[in-house]
Amino acid sequence: MAHTTAPRREQGAPALGNAESRSTPPTKVYPTKNDLPEASRREAIALLNQRLADCIDLQTQSKQAHWNVKGPSFIALHKLFDEINAAVAEYADLLAERVVQLGGIAEGTVGVVAERSTLVDYPIGLSTGAEHVAALSDALAMFGRTVRVGIEEMNELEDAGSADILTEISRGVDKWLWFVEAHQQGA
Ligand SMILES: [Fe+2]
Repeated sequence: MAHTTAPRREQGAPALGNAESRSTPPTKVYPTKNDLPEASRREAIALLNQRLADCIDLQTQSKQAHWNVKGPSFIALHKLFDEINAAVAEYADLLAERVVQLGGIAEGTVGVVAERSTLVDYPIGLSTGAEHVAALSDALAMFGRTVRVGIEEMNELEDAGSADILTEISRGVDKWLWFVEAHQQGA
């Protein structure tokens, strides 16, 4: 992306959770009759927007794998990666709409995602099923970790609704990680 202001994270060193780890200006918070304290809502909004960026990044990575995988397992992996893309798009919608329910602004543009995502960039030149299985399982595992941390963060903020959404996403991501990793586990 042209306007990336922060360097992409190094492999194996994802920045976690904290909105302040990325350049996040304080965004507008709308007044609402939702009884969660405004300070909690502000924190939850920032944390959820961080997870949203990771989620949209993961979604694009699963499409990248869907389009480019080759080899004897092509059709199985091609279809699996598209199922993952569709599921992850739903997770992004859950996160974004939770941000708005809390009075925030969902920040899900490609530019924001490119700047803010904590996932490692998906390698462009991959070809074989094994290569895509390795790369996408890495991405799913990284996202799964950030979501699990997010559940704890929402529990600390006493935002049970956001914790529940993240728990649902965590369950789904664990399942997709199993589906992808199973291709490595048959030997
Ligand atoms: Fe397709």
